[in-house]
Amino acid sequence: MSDRNAAIVGAFFGDESKARVTNYLAKNYKYIVRFNGSSNSGHTFYYRGTKIVRHLLPSADFSHNNHAVLSSNMVINPEDLLKEVRETCDMFPEAAKRIIVDPNAFVITQKHLEEDRANVARIGSTGKGVGCAYRDKINRCGVRINDLLKDNNEIICELQNLGVRFESVLSLFDEFEMHNILFEGAQSVLLDINFGTYPFVTSSECTLGGIFNSGFAAFMPSTVYGVTKAYSTRVGNGPFPTELFGNEAENLRKLGNEYGATTGRPRRVGWLDLPALEYAKKISGFTHLVVAKLDILDGLERIPVCTHYQKDPHSPCDFFDAKPQMISVPGWKNSKDTSQIKPFIKLISKTIGIPVRYVSCGVKDEDIMLW
Ligand code: IMP
Ligand code: MG
Repeated sequence: MSDRNAAIVGAFFGDESKARVTNYLAKNYKYIVRFNGSSNSGHTFYYRGTKIVRHLLPSADFSHNNHAVLSSNMVINPEDLLKEVRETCDMFPEAAKRIIVDPNAFVITQKHLEEDRANVARIGSTGKGVGCAYRDKINRCGVRINDLLKDNNEIICELQNLGVRFESVLSLFDEFEMHNILFEGAQSVLLDINFGTYPFVTSSECTLGGIFNSGFAAFMPSTVYGVTKAYSTRVGNGPFPTELFGNEAENLRKLGNEYGATTGRPRRVGWLDLPALEYAKKISGFTHLVVAKLDILDGLERIPVCTHYQKDPHSPCDFFDAKPQMISVPGWKNSKDTSQIKPFIKLISKTIGIPVRYVSCGVKDEDIMLW
């Protein structure tokens, strides 16, 4: 385990504001490694007031002298990558030279895309071909980025011309040993292929397992930030114990602007679920928590929170018949006044048994505060 390295992992169903936390911390790290998933994720953060949405590249702006790594545990649609690299270079002209793609990553092909799009309804997938690409990898009939490199694939050549490097963990091993790494997970623990609400999950490891499977076992982080919002959301099908419906849901959705960054779908919304957060902590070894989007609840008189289920979740299957038991805690007028949010933050850290390290009360870097 490396004291220098840290990981950002989502606790619930994605969209916890991981991207903002990654970008906030990125200036302190030499390598920012995206360790799972693909174009299914929509990671939104802000650079000097400009909104940036990333799908494949790690969520760090390129204003600092660090490098972005797309790990071998990802599946990559080369067209999506080229588009994102070009967009990034429009803003940060030198960015491409600081992007590294592990050629052991697998490729999302046109066939995967078509097949996934035809079956979106089953899981509520994003239709980006992700599950089909991972399936072919496991079925030992996948195509690697390395195969495209050997074939002088046009898009890969174009990426190389822009300056993108294709290098494996092994070829960069000494570099990784000398410097520090921030690992960024996509999706989240409850969408993890092994520990999420299967079959309503994504197809990759969203927990620390994704770091192992990227070949970074020698660089495992000692600090693991579990990121949660002050409430919960989910896109796509599957159990969601604290879900709200009707007007209550509509109000919270509007307050939080909870619409998917990749598909534009309205997100399902609900209250904070502490048993699920504790499950995520145990499964993914969180050492610290980050609580985000507290500002969305500014002005609410009371904030409902689920403190336990009738039966604690010991397995992913337990989420399907969870009966959440709710309490409500006093709300706050202004989340930036730390004394007002203190009881809520204390409840979370006390129940989960690890410290809250950061709270986030807005979209800007300045809105993230050390707790
Ligand atoms: P897939 O990863 O596109 O196959 O989608 C599988 C499930 O994961 C669906 O319910 C998606 O809505 C959900 N999902 C995938 N990526 C994300 C994400 O980045 N944020 C939130 N939900 C996601
Ligand atoms: Mg998202």
